[in-house]
Amino acid sequence: MKATSLFAAASLTSLSYCQPTKQQNSTIYNPILPGFHPDPSCVFVKEWDNTFFCATSTFLAFPGIPIYASKDLQNWKLVSHAFNRPEQLPAFGNITGQQDGWYAPTLRYHNHRFWIIDSCVGSDTGYLSTSDPYNNTAWTNVTPTSIPGYDPDLFWDTDGTLYSAFAKTVLSDPFTTEIHQVNISMPSGDTTPDRFLWNGTNVQPPEGPHMMIKDGYHYLLLAEGGTAQEHQVTIGRGQSAQGPFESDPKNPILTAYNTTEYFQTVGHADLFQDTNGQWWGVALSTRSGPEYETWPMGRETVLYPATWEKGQWPVLGGPVRGKMEAPLPPVNKNIRGPGAFVRDPDYYTFSPGSSIPSHFSYWRFPQIQNYAISPTNHRNTLRLLPSRANLTGDAAFVPTDGITFIGRRQTDTLFTYSVDVEYSPTEIGEESGVTLFLTQSYHVDLGIVRLNKTGNYLRFRAEGSNAPKEIVAPIPQEWCDQGMHLQIKAYNITHFSFSAGLKGGQVKQIASVPATLVSNGFTGSFVGVYATKNGNIKGKTPSYISNWVYQGQGQYIGNGEFYPSNGQKSGAGL
Ligand SMILES: *[C@@H]1O[C@H](CO)[C@@H](O)[C@H](O)[C@H]1NC(C)=O
Ligand SMILES: *[C@@H]1O[C@H](CO)[C@@H](O)[C@H](O)[C@H]1NC(C)=O
Ligand SMILES: *[C@@H]1O[C@H](CO)[C@@H](O)[C@H](O)[C@H]1NC(C)=O
Ligand SMILES: *[C@@H]1O[C@H](CO)[C@@H](O)[C@H](O)[C@H]1NC(C)=O
Ligand SMILES: *[C@@H]1O[C@H](CO)[C@@H](O)[C@H](O)[C@H]1NC(C)=O
Ligand SMILES: *[C@@H]1O[C@H](CO)[C@@H](O)[C@H](O)[C@H]1NC(C)=O
Ligand SMILES: *[C@@H]1O[C@H](CO)[C@@H](O)[C@H](O)[C@H]1NC(C)=O
Ligand SMILES: *[C@@H]1O[C@H](CO)[C@@H](O)[C@H](O)[C@H]1NC(C)=O
Ligand SMILES: *[C@@H]1O[C@H](CO)[C@@H](O)[C@H](O)[C@H]1NC(C)=O
Repeated sequence: MKATSLFAAASLTSLSYCQPTKQQNSTIYNPILPGFHPDPSCVFVKEWDNTFFCATSTFLAFPGIPIYASKDLQNWKLVSHAFNRPEQLPAFGNITGQQDGWYAPTLRYHNHRFWIIDSCVGSDTGYLSTSDPYNNTAWTNVTPTSIPGYDPDLFWDTDGTLYSAFAKTVLSDPFTTEIHQVNISMPSGDTTPDRFLWNGTNVQPPEGPHMMIKDGYHYLLLAEGGTAQEHQVTIGRGQSAQGPFESDPKNPILTAYNTTEYFQTVGHADLFQDTNGQWWGVALSTRSGPEYETWPMGRETVLYPATWEKGQWPVLGGPVRGKMEAPLPPVNKNIRGPGAFVRDPDYYTFSPGSSIPSHFSYWRFPQIQNYAISPTNHRNTLRLLPSRANLTGDAAFVPTDGITFIGRRQTDTLFTYSVDVEYSPTEIGEESGVTLFLTQSYHVDLGIVRLNKTGNYLRFRAEGSNAPKEIVAPIPQEWCDQGMHLQIKAYNITHFSFSAGLKGGQVKQIASVPATLVSNGFTGSFVGVYATKNGNIKGKTPSYISNWVYQGQGQYIGNGEFYPSNGQKSGAGL
């Protein structure tokens, strides 16, 4: 086996002089964007040094709409966030629904600019653009477009007309939609009245449209069946951007529905071509097995090869698996900018002069004065000041007040996350610690809390359905004096542990919870830190976080099989 593949590699190298476009297969490791990265939309841009770019949904996470860049389709670096400043869309700050915010973006490259159109549910649909995808501040503010639906697309036709297809709810039932279309004028964002475009294959709800043109046909790629187990990719084609469309007789052209694959819910695809003419597809998927019960990382981005012969329908290379063979571009991690690769571990000391890593995320707009790196007398820490509201919030919660929370996505099936916390709360209700956070309605927290006049306690509690019982334990005096170490670990594919100990010492497990607690909705889990007064108006005790470590210990891809996480000593050199 080994000898054969070595021989194949050697002969291919010598052949490559006369057949430069013939490429050898290598292994796709899925997901390519592990963790909370739903609804991918991707482009290949020759003009930007043969680079692939992808954008994904972020809901209420801020900054939002991350832009990842890659030259090899395997190593993806975070290079900017399209939505990175409150002034780009101030109304985002007022959104209340935990499943609202930035839904599926469409990312396109046209006329030397990158364009995103997206619906911010609870606020506006709009577009933004940039001439430099590596620069946050180069992204424009959001220009609202009056599109009466969600999942808008951008398609420039050969005559220059810009069309946007989108999903429109047609009955009172929010899950009955049709694909409609408007023409958009740029730069105003003005739209024509919308018109019916296509129903797909009538597996409700059709959504996530992407239009493309090939060999004289206009193709319309759709997501159908909803984002859960029935999710499927369908396609139609016609002579004009305005339809009518005939359905591919092979629809759905990609799905995990009715299968026992570990990668379930495959759908919401986009298609693009590399410099060799090879077609690729992305989609979202949950690693949830056929059971669809445990999927704390939410909907992730997967890659698969596709073939698309002249005048024919595209053939997508499913089923989507954790390891697939395909003619990937050669490994090349030479991507500009200080951002992290999405599979990298974290080792952050918050040293003076450093800034908050770009893949760290808030939930809603942050009150930035509540986060400070290496403040005076507390070098090498991240200082948190408490929000009035806790992570859940209460009836008096004002969205624009925000919650003091900062985290990073769970990107590995198995991982260990830990921080040191120096914190001595003095007002009743003050609390700071670590959290496994899906939304304000679903999170699991382990923190130090001032409970009453007697003192400070370690408290474990969770928000959400089937939340386990609260655990309150006295904190040993030496842990208070010397600082504490708090840890969250996914120790197997279904369970997380929450542990605490003396800074620099051993940890003791306080609780273990099933990952089903954070397996629902449209988002995916973060691990991070928080600080709150639990509704008390008094209290301003800072919490000092240091030695932030996140290490993956393996990606589970089904059937008992793992592949190593990046940064693992025994790693297989992904
Ligand atoms: C947010 O809500 C507040 C209070 O209702 C209102 O005063 C403010 O104008 C809103 N901001 C935006 C940008 O909609
Ligand atoms: C980033 O974009 C902003 C706004 O266009 C510009 O002022 C700034 O010079 C750019 N920075 C870099 C490093 O290109
Ligand atoms: C949209 O643009 C196309 C192509 O220019 C045009 O034929 C059509 O009438 C436009 N639709 C509307 C509603 O203006
Ligand atoms: C499209 O689907 C909707 C909702 O099911 C239905 O009311 C409508 O008649 C369909 N239109 C066509 C042209 O099939
Ligand atoms: C899945 O199974 C159901 C029930 O047998 C069937 O109606 C449906 O067409 C199947 N869908 C796919 C995509 O296999
Ligand atoms: C590459 O992998 C695909 C899918 O497994 C297979 O069909 C194809 O024959 C392989 N090509 C080469 C050159 O090995
Ligand atoms: C403080 O709270 C702890 C934990 O609930 C409890 O054991 C203790 O009795 C309380 N002390 C006072 C003075 O209420
Ligand atoms: C993970 O560990 C828990 C016990 O802590 C156990 O109940 C569960 O079955 C384990 N999961 C798997 C997939 O082995
Ligand atoms: C959040 O704070 C409210 C009071 O403001 C409190 O009733 C609730 O128990 C807290 N819940 C969590 C999970 O923090």
